[in-house]
Amino acid sequence: MKRIIYCSQAVHDFPPDELVTLLDRSRERNAACGLTGMLLYSSQSFLQMVEGEADAIEATYARIRGDERHTNLRLLMDAEVPGRLFPDWTMGFEHVDDEELADELDGFTPATRYPLVNPDLITNATVAQTLLTLYAKNRVR
Ligand SMILES: Cc1cc2nc3c(=O)[nH]c(=O)nc-3n(C[C@H](O)[C@H](O)[C@H](O)COP(=O)(O)O)c2cc1C
Repeated sequence: MKRIIYCSQAVHDFPPDELVTLLDRSRERNAACGLTGMLLYSSQSFLQMVEGEADAIEATYARIRGDERHTNLRLLMDAEVPGRLFPDWTMGFEHVDDEELADELDGFTPATRYPLVNPDLITNATVAQTLLTLYAKNRVR
């Protein structure tokens, strides 16, 4: 069992319908080869964890890497792991937009000013994994 985490930059800001298309296709393919994980999107940046058998991860990451909808991929973690962090999600998703967080937190500073998913800020695999897990825990849907 393996786990990878990478971050990347979208070539343009993804409107909701494009995110839905991306997720539908990803979930369908992940279900077929036993992959699970979590994808965060914020301020034109992606942060994704994918977990499953090594062969499936390799083939999928090769496709993801070649996807022209994003660029500057940086692999933050590539590790053998004892089990899954997201066994139930063929790909959990969180659009970390300002409005959503602003509703929840008084005095919140918009995500566009402090984009947590920004590849420049995520320099370390543990930070990336913590962020993904925290967003997953606080998911309301
Ligand atoms: C940010 C991002 C995350 C993606 N995540 C996955 C994923 O988890 N699983 C997957 O199969 N494809 C994922 N894709 C899509 C692949 O790049 C590819 O488009 C998809 O697997 C469909 O390939 P196909 O048209 O050859 O079937 C992702 C693409 C992007 C841009």
